[in-house]
Amino acid sequence: MMARFAFCIALLMALPATAQQVGPQETPDFRGPPFAMQGGEAVYAGVCQGCHMADAKGATGAGSYPALARNSRLESAGYVLTMVMNGHKGMPPFRGHFTNLQIADVVNYVRTHFGNRYRDKISEADVQALR
Ligand code: HEC
Repeated sequence: MMARFAFCIALLMALPATAQQVGPQETPDFRGPPFAMQGGEAVYAGVCQGCHMADAKGATGAGSYPALARNSRLESAGYVLTMVMNGHKGMPPFRGHFTNLQIADVVNYVRTHFGNRYRDKISEADVQALR
């Protein structure tokens, strides 16, 4: 009984790690359906704002969604890029749903809007380097 329980826990813990290893670099297709919208603004409106809100001020309710507006943590482009690619806790990983261009665009978008003025840009090559 105990052994079976332990096995289930081990399986559960292995799941996210396995999911993260399956990336677009291994298959020509995306793991999930690719999102179609083009441009940082469209990607933000279509995906990110569902949690971070249209004004990027975040929300608390069923979950806690941090504000991206005037957020000094966005100063690090690499941090934002890693969040979008890999997710973290309640933030889902999007690497399997977006092209390099879509990811670069949305990272650059949130870092230059909502009161953020970080002008250095993420390129498609930067995204590819994390694949
Ligand atoms: C399903 C809800 C959800 C969606 C959709 C979502 N996020 Fe998040 N996001 C979160 C949560 C929850 C966190 C906090 C994660 C944590 O606790 O580490 C977060 C954290 C972040 C952070 C880090 C903020 C900080 O202060 O550390 C960034 C940057 C971010 N999200 C950007 C985005 C972008 C860009 C998109 C769209 C591509 C997006 N998120 C879509 C839920 C979401």
